[in-house]
Amino acid sequence: MKTELFPVIKFFKKVESTNAFAGPYLENSTLQSNFVICAREQTGGKGRLERDWYSPVGGLYFTLGFPRTQFPSTITLFTGVIIHKVLSSIFPELTFSIKWANDIFLNNKKVGGILTSSNTHGTVIGIGIDCNIKVIPNRLKGIATSLLIETGKKVALKRFLKVILETFEENLKFFNELGFPHFVEYFEKFHILTNKKVVIYSGERQLFGTVRGITHDGALKLETESGLQSVLSADKIDILT
Ligand code: BTN
Repeated sequence: MKTELFPVIKFFKKVESTNAFAGPYLENSTLQSNFVICAREQTGGKGRLERDWYSPVGGLYFTLGFPRTQFPSTITLFTGVIIHKVLSSIFPELTFSIKWANDIFLNNKKVGGILTSSNTHGTVIGIGIDCNIKVIPNRLKGIATSLLIETGKKVALKRFLKVILETFEENLKFFNELGFPHFVEYFEKFHILTNKKVVIYSGERQLFGTVRGITHDGALKLETESGLQSVLSADKIDILT
């Protein structure tokens, strides 16, 4: 399973969070190489803004670890493109979408998410995909779904992970050489928010406008009453029309 980019891959039955688990590996100077931490189940999976990430057996939960490596913030958007490419190749009959900045959608519901963090020791990219999950809890009904629920088909998780790692590796060369601009057209093509009226929540602030694309730096282009703005981050985005 290991690849050139990821020579160390560790599988666990149950961890609190693969992202949290990856922290000490990143800091451990004896482990020089990139690594992957994958778990069948997480007891304390985390999403953005410290939200809980529902992580029962059946989902794919893994973290890519890059000791001593800093990426531009667009690495999250790049990762979304990779997950989208792989899902679209496994399910060519379905149309997956990407929702800026870190969500993967199917049939207007979230099916995957990405959580990147970095510190002086390096970078971790955590990825969660709702694959073979049969039941979505009530609090997430209408918001989240799984591949099994939408397609009736089970995904072979290890095989899926392998294809993601290979696709990530193939494309990272282009990301490192050409940056996110090389992927921006793909992102925009599958971006669920393009030309949608939205409200963007950031702390106490709300910003209304129409999404007009993504900048080469990975910001959201928002046409507002006072002109075109670049939005760098958001807590939540709702589509109005
Ligand atoms: C989000 O959409 O808010 C990001 C979700 C990221 C979830 C993944 S699952 C693997 C890794 N471990 C975690 O605790 N979180 C990430």
